[in-house]
Amino acid sequence: LANNFIPLARPFVSDEEISAVTEVIKSGWWTTGPKVTEFEGRVAGYLGGGLYAVALNSATSGLFLALKVLGIGPGDEVIVPTLTFIASAHVVEWCGAKVVLCDIDRDSYNIDTGLIEKLITPRTKAIMPVHIAGYPCEMSEIIKISNKYGLHIVEDAAHAIGTEYEGVKIGNHGKAVVFSFYATKNLACGEGGMVVSKDIELIEKIRKLSYFGVNKQAFKRYEKSGSWYYEVEELGYKCNFDSIHAALGIAQLNKLDNLNKIRREIAFKYKEKLDSSIEVQKNSENHFHSYHLFSVKLPAFLDRDDTFNMLKEKNIGSSVHFIPIHKHPYYAAKFSDASFPAANSLYPRLLSLPLYPSLENREVEHVIESLNSIVRSKKI
Ligand SMILES: Cc1ncc(COP(=O)(O)O)c(C=O)c1O
Repeated sequence: LANNFIPLARPFVSDEEISAVTEVIKSGWWTTGPKVTEFEGRVAGYLGGGLYAVALNSATSGLFLALKVLGIGPGDEVIVPTLTFIASAHVVEWCGAKVVLCDIDRDSYNIDTGLIEKLITPRTKAIMPVHIAGYPCEMSEIIKISNKYGLHIVEDAAHAIGTEYEGVKIGNHGKAVVFSFYATKNLACGEGGMVVSKDIELIEKIRKLSYFGVNKQAFKRYEKSGSWYYEVEELGYKCNFDSIHAALGIAQLNKLDNLNKIRREIAFKYKEKLDSSIEVQKNSENHFHSYHLFSVKLPAFLDRDDTFNMLKEKNIGSSVHFIPIHKHPYYAAKFSDASFPAANSLYPRLLSLPLYPSLENREVEHVIESLNSIVRSKKI
């Protein structure tokens, strides 16, 4: 352990992933095709049925296209929590709409639902809940507000594949729900994302926009029964998913519940053994936290950046999720009048620890012992 760096994240690889990818490579069909359709169907089924899905090259593309298809554009506003990855905000700006940032709940790190109504104006079109670290937002409150004001819910579920809100999997609540399959995610493809919805029309519109606005799927043109002819009906983009990544996704989906179970066991061990001065994200028994990340709130007597460096010296990778949106220079000027007391007090103390299924027991123990010894050395 002294010489082996423990990274913040590591994908889980087995022979299944390797042979699934090899099979696609040998098949001769690498881009969007039946493997992608199979992956979409498998994820929709995993989430409980009654959902339609479109796989894309990233969750960012999924969020952007979902907003586009819902008609969000100049003059519109979308409410986004400030503690999230930059993608959640940028996609709103790409549509020409205005990002309206909301502060977070101090315990769950998710959007503070008690503040949403105050941010609603006649221009508000959507709310974007982000299930931070895999812990679900207060969906029943958000649904109530969206019904009252006629707003769309576009969920950033990048962290939340397998997460449940009151026994129902994330994917079944919002108008459009977007998952990420980025290399570090609970279900990893390297790059990739998926939008799911109960609304088949919405999904098919996203599918069309994801491939230049072409009116039929490219691979169908190359089938024996296909015709070369196609028409471009709108100014679409290029964010379709491919079969090589889809094969990885199917292999990962087969073991997702097991991988999430291991993540939770590690998280529970952290919670049990870390010094009591280290606070952890809320986890109500009513929900299923998929623990994409294990973000702790360090005690005030520890400097976050010193702690990051001291962990690095002990061969442990850590990180911060996230720099609040309003702290980034691009957004800071737009929010100079707004105040985000909860995010501002949490952010300087946030630190994410390594958490992934291939993390070995002795590595978990090393992280716990190292952080506890840092606490002991600084405790007054
Ligand atoms: C909260 C959140 N939203 C969106 C994204 C974007 O996902 P992707 O990298 O698949 O575009 C990420 C990525 O890590 C994320 O953490």
